[in-house]
Parts: sequence; C-alpha cells; structure tokens
Amino acid sequence: MKGIVLAGGTGSRLFPSTRGVSKHLFPVYDKPMFYYPVSVLMQAGVREILIISTPETLPLIRRVLGDGNQLGVEFSYAAQAEPRGIAEAFLIGRSHIEGGRSALVLGDNIFHGESMFSLLDRAASASAGCVLFGCEVAEPQRYAVAGFGDDGRLDSLVEKPAEPVSDYAVAGLYFYDERVVEIAEQVVPSGRGELEVTDVNRAYMKLDDVQVVTMGKEIKWLDLGTEDSLMEGAGYVSSVLRDSGSRVACLEEIALRMGFIGPEQCHRLGEAMGASPYGEYVMSVAQGRGTGEKPALDALVWQGAAV
Ligand code: DAU
Repeated sequence: MKGIVLAGGTGSRLFPSTRGVSKHLFPVYDKPMFYYPVSVLMQAGVREILIISTPETLPLIRRVLGDGNQLGVEFSYAAQAEPRGIAEAFLIGRSHIEGGRSALVLGDNIFHGESMFSLLDRAASASAGCVLFGCEVAEPQRYAVAGFGDDGRLDSLVEKPAEPVSDYAVAGLYFYDERVVEIAEQVVPSGRGELEVTDVNRAYMKLDDVQVVTMGKEIKWLDLGTEDSLMEGAGYVSSVLRDSGSRVACLEEIALRMGFIGPEQCHRLGEAMGASPYGEYVMSVAQGRGTGEKPALDALVWQGAAV
C-alpha cells in the first residue's frame, strides 16, 4: 500500500493568513498541520508516502520531513503547479501508486481517536475497490455528501450540495485499488474548474465497489480549512494533551509504536528537537515504553492513553 498526502492549493478561505505561507505549515498547537495527515498514513502501516504540494511549499515540508529515513519510512515529493483539483493527485502520483492499492489523505484533515487504528486496519485490508470515511456533521454543504438508500447502501455522492440529502460528509481520507489512476484519467473539470475526487468516488459507486466506513463520535475528524476549525483543531490537540498526557499525531511516537524505529532512534529524534516540550515528550516516550518491537494490535490502540 502506497500513500499520498495532498497539501497544495491556495488556502483562499484563509486569506490573508495564507497569502505568504501555506496553511499546511501553520502550527496546529504543537506541530505543523501536515504532520496530522502523515500520521494517519503511518498508522495505517503505509511506509512509502508521496507528499504533493505547491512548488513554493514543497521544499519547506521537505526541510522538516526529509527522506523519512529517520522515521523508518520513505517520503518522496512532487509539485502540483496549479490547484487543478484533488483528483490530480492520482495523475501527479501515477508512478508512485500505479499497479497497487493506495491511500490519499488531504493535507488539512485531522483524524484522531482510540478506534482509528482499527478503522484504518479495516480500510487497508478491505476488498472493496474504494473505501470512504463518512461522518455526521452539522454543515454537510461544506463537504461531499453521501446519500444512502433504504437498504443502507450508498446511492449518491455530491460535492458541496446546496441541499444535502443527508448529514453524512465524506472525509478527506480515501483508499483505492489499482484502478484509481485509470479512473482519474477520465475525470473532467467540474463547474468550478477542478478535477473532483468526488467524481473518482462516483465512478467507483457506479461500479458498485465502494465501502463507506462510518466514523462515530469516538473519532474526532476536522477539516482545518476555515478560521474556526483551525482554532478548534488547536484546542482539541491541546485538550488531549492536558487530559491524557498524549500528543496527537506525534510522528516519532507512531514510528516507534509501529516498529518502524527503535527506542534509541526515537530518543535521538527527541534530543534533536532541543528543549521543546515536544522534543521532551518524544524522549520520554522512547525511555518509558519503547521496545522497538512491533506491538500487538491491541497495544496499538494507544492514542489517548497516558504516557
Ligand atoms: O475535508 C473533506 C472535504 O475535502 C471533502 O468532503 C470534499 O469532497 C473535498 O472536495 C474536500 O473539500 P474542501 O473544500 O475541503 O477542499 P479544499 O479545496 O479545501 O482542499 C482540501 C485539501 O486538498 C487542502 O489541504 C488543499 C489540498 N488541495 C486542494 C486542491 C483543490 C490541493 O493540494 N490541490 C488542489 O488542487
């Protein structure tokens, strides 16, 4: 399974804050926004991750993440020259994902909760051609909305509908089989001029090959595309730390828990972050819990546990 993090675009909903710098570099409490989507793929066991961003932002993300060797993963990078739409990620990332299953996560999405690991595990091992994540939200018109028939089967997917048929938003995390590149090649720009990921998902729906995993209240899902959700995201991450002592989306900790790196390496990564509270946390994780072995599935449902 290969992964893509899509972290480009103009961030125009956050102007003027994003005029000079991409929102994906904004701190969300204790770490840059792009850590959150990367953490989701790592928790899904994905170790080959392509990061797509604007030509200006890509070197800045690379300066932080490097080639991934320090985390026991492999990061590669590709630029999206213009924000032509989310589905362009499959075309830009064609050589990375071709021939196998892949996962795409949007660069401004946060997913967190104890059951996240088992949901990711289910999605990664699903037999369906496409796995989507649905979540009940207060403002469905901001998202792609999933409609279900009387038999509970998915029967419609509409991008930002004026009149949503349900409160089920499709979150920015998608798993696909090897047909996704071929399907994305057929997508034409929508009314707003974008290659829509929703059109890719509709193609799978027409093939009757979509599974929707519904995320309940135990999962916190946030799309950090607005000023209020940015504040909410930072507040959430800080409250998890305060209440449980855990840091959300700590890549070094996830790498250790997944067995991608050992405790010594985890400690070195913490040390390299100087005296920051985040660096101290990474060192404490390495000292307190690290075994360097791949933990059992139960042990991996660790997020939210006190460290
Ligand atoms: O968050 C979930 C929603 O994300 C889905 O329900 C929608 O179906 C999907 O279209 C998307 O809607 P948004 O309005 O939130 O998309 P936005 O334009 O904000 O872009 C989402 C992320 O993808 C963001 O990190 C920027 C990045 N992006 C977007 C486009 C259009 C790119 O890197 N390149 C692009 O061309």
